[in-house]
Amino acid sequence: MNGTGENPTRGGVVSEWNAEARAAFRKAPAIGRHNLHERPEFSDAALAALIDRHPRELTDFCTMGDDPSDNDSWRGGDPGNYSGAELLDAVRKGRLWINLRRAMSGDAAYSPLFEAMFADLKRLNPGYRTLNAESGILISSPTAQVFIHSDPSETILWHVRGRKRIRLYPARPPFVEDAHLEAILHKEIAEDLPYHAWYEDHCAVVDLEPGMFVSWPLHGPHRVQNLEGMNVSVTCEIVTPESMLRNGVLYQNGFMRRRFGIAPRTSSTQGVQAYVKLALSRIAKAMAPKNRPMPRSERTFDVDPDAPTGFRDRNAA
Ligand SMILES: [Fe+2]
Repeated sequence: MNGTGENPTRGGVVSEWNAEARAAFRKAPAIGRHNLHERPEFSDAALAALIDRHPRELTDFCTMGDDPSDNDSWRGGDPGNYSGAELLDAVRKGRLWINLRRAMSGDAAYSPLFEAMFADLKRLNPGYRTLNAESGILISSPTAQVFIHSDPSETILWHVRGRKRIRLYPARPPFVEDAHLEAILHKEIAEDLPYHAWYEDHCAVVDLEPGMFVSWPLHGPHRVQNLEGMNVSVTCEIVTPESMLRNGVLYQNGFMRRRFGIAPRTSSTQGVQAYVKLALSRIAKAMAPKNRPMPRSERTFDVDPDAPTGFRDRNAA
């Protein structure tokens, strides 16, 4: 663009966000375009260096089975002492999924991009308010998948390398029930949801190419299948006033059910009682046991760039 007229993307990350996407944002699946895939921060060399310096306690190494209903096949592993370049090699050839949690929001080389993403989103969506946002980088194998789940925060997925298919299911029962969300918020279960093949008749299917990003409504169940190449994506988990209220109500309902055996009459976020529940949920959360490990934090494999899957099972004979 030249200097005449306003260039909405100068120095920014979002390159396309049309009226339809703006109207759908946070109410239905919405698709836009970005330019992260054109930036040197997502080259092999930059990602390998990021893996090397990113805190290991913020990095997950996982693998999974083929069956989309077999959530239990999701498991964690140990990266050992391999370099970032070797780990990328294992991902490219094998069946691995690496989550560099908070890398976009916390790493000095990436946080300017993260700031630009949110500056663009706020400029392009008047009235959009966020209370907190965290952003990570996912690097995954050509055949990796992520099982159906519901994130506690609002989510935006920015696709950078490779091709993947995301399926977005309605954010309502039976796809996701209040009981599931209460259990997720109380950290009794991971974010997985039950999956049935008939769900496929009820989802939006989006094939993500580099340069596309997609958002969907709070708690909307989704699953992801990689289609081609080593995949790199950026995830944003965003706390908004609306998500905080909804989660506060669900958390408090879950607390009443668990502590006092009371079945809450409503999970509505309308009216003064919702704000009372939000306030109570903060007290309940402060009383909850700390540092409870998330389900499935055990490591059952070791990364091995020479293995066809990119890893070796710990209990293999
Ligand atoms: Fe997700």
